[in-house]
Parts: sequence; C-alpha cells; structure tokens
Amino acid sequence: MTFVVSEACIRCKYTDCVAVCPVDAFREGGTFLVIDPDDCIDCAVCVPECPVQAIYAEEDLPRDQQVFTAFNAQQSKTLPTISRVKPALPDAQTWAEVRHKRSEVGL
Ligand code: SF4
Ligand code: F3S
Repeated sequence: MTFVVSEACIRCKYTDCVAVCPVDAFREGGTFLVIDPDDCIDCAVCVPECPVQAIYAEEDLPRDQQVFTAFNAQQSKTLPTISRVKPALPDAQTWAEVRHKRSEVGL
C-alpha cells in the first residue's frame, strides 16, 4: 500500500504535505508533487495537510483518479526529493477550482 497524490495537486503545489512526512517520501515535479511508494510508510499524516485534498490512500482513490497510482510510481523514479515547504505556484488559487487538469501533466 501507499499514499498517492492525485489530480488536485496539479498547478497548485501547496507543499504543506512535505512538512509532515517523516520519511521524505515526496518528490517534486514542475507543477505537482508525487509520493514515492517505496518510501511511504502509510502513516496518513499528510492527508489532512493538503488544502485541496489531493492525497489519498491508494485503496481509497476515487475511480477517476486511479491513474495517479502509476503516475506517482513512475514520476518518483526520476524526480528529486522535496522536504521543505515552499510557496505555492502563483495561480494556485485559480487552479484549485479546476477539476480536470491532468492534461497539464500529459495524462
Ligand atoms: Fe509521508 Fe506518511 Fe504521507 Fe506516506 S502517508 S507520504 S509516509 S506523510
Ligand atoms: Fe500538492 Fe496538496 Fe501537497 S496541493 S503539494 S499534495 S499540500
């Protein structure tokens, strides 16, 4: 099992989640974060930290978000670790209202 960052993170990237992860499992892309399933210890403390509710336990992912399990696993192989909070992306508030934005990351 692992936790998964889903579509809501894209172009928001608030990064509140990274502050609480005890094992630095988050990886940073240009417009999104993912969780490395090999590092995540399923503690769940990151879930309530995300302002846009982007993080789910793998088995609780809504059906239309299940593609993000593989996306997190694949992207985390090459992306760098992020362990410190940084400012959200400039248009985060606008993108937080957008439900369908996976095309922004090629999905
Ligand atoms: Fe880190 Fe725990 Fe979230 Fe996994 S569930 S990414 S270990 S805070
Ligand atoms: Fe993304 Fe939410 Fe973390 S928007 S960066 S999963 S706090």
